[in-house]
Amino acid sequence: MNPTLYNDLSLERQLALQKERAWDWEKDIPWHLGANPAQYLLPLDADAIAFPDLNEKQRLVLSQFMGLGVNATIGEMEGVIDNLKEVAWERLLRRCPVNPEMWELGELFFAEELKHARTFAKYLEVFCQSTGVPQASLQQLMPKAHGTRFLASIRANAHQGGFAFWWVVSAVEEVSIQIYQMMHKHEAGIDPLFFHIHRKHLEEEARHKNYAFLMLELAQSAPGNWKERLVRKTDLLLAQTMTAAWLVAELHRIFDAERLRKDHPFFETLASCLPSLKKIPLWDLPRRLFMTAPYVSFVLNLHHQKLTARFAHKHGVWRLPLPKPKLSSLYTHGIAA
Ligand SMILES: [Fe+2]
Ligand SMILES: [Fe+2]
Repeated sequence: MNPTLYNDLSLERQLALQKERAWDWEKDIPWHLGANPAQYLLPLDADAIAFPDLNEKQRLVLSQFMGLGVNATIGEMEGVIDNLKEVAWERLLRRCPVNPEMWELGELFFAEELKHARTFAKYLEVFCQSTGVPQASLQQLMPKAHGTRFLASIRANAHQGGFAFWWVVSAVEEVSIQIYQMMHKHEAGIDPLFFHIHRKHLEEEARHKNYAFLMLELAQSAPGNWKERLVRKTDLLLAQTMTAAWLVAELHRIFDAERLRKDHPFFETLASCLPSLKKIPLWDLPRRLFMTAPYVSFVLNLHHQKLTARFAHKHGVWRLPLPKPKLSSLYTHGIAA
């Protein structure tokens, strides 16, 4: 049975389980394996998101770039939420006292997310050591959330009594689980260390994924004046819009591969994929990003985030009216699964 907000016994059990099964990011990950430069990190679709007609070498580099980008996206989100801990979490718990377990589970939740962010950052370091790709150059292509307008608007919303923060968190939780499920079918074609990290991540995500929903439940039941209740109705819309604007802007960093061509053959190959991307008509880009691109559409399209969508429906919260996604088959080294 899923723990509920006012059942302190079930929350206590979850707390004990999370503590007992927690892994250590330094000791429990086989870092000695290194990254295999010849392996995919994520399976790609036939159109490789926006790049049809790529050769095998280009697809491999693109898959590695996507895998590192997905890690950085989850890691950045998991890293920045700690900055909003006081305004988005502590204030709500003080305003709507529940039970001590919700405090303890929250502390654990934030600590686990910081640990995950560190683990993903460490993988990037290991990837660079194994492949010789200069880390400082690669970092320039990776998404960054610190100091962005996205973060500022989520913070401003929390100050106004909104809960967009928890909608962003619940979406990230679901997306990271979905990414693992996608990888699971392609384990044989994926770098073993990368796969291992995502499996360890999934273990803890599966155990604590209900925390964001418990906080949203609490948020919905919190007392509030007319304006605050209206803000709550629009929190998810804000979370969706700001996440989409941030992600699309960050994806644009791939064009910097052109500038880094001389730093390493990895960038040379990545840059060679760009002419194909530039050919996509602008009008077709939203369809690809929101509907057909794996990973990107997982974040942008609420249909992929089933629990979040169900919760929004239950509470009559407004969301972007998006059509259902259409994903095609995914491949590693030309092998479908
Ligand atoms: Fe996580
Ligand atoms: Fe999480």
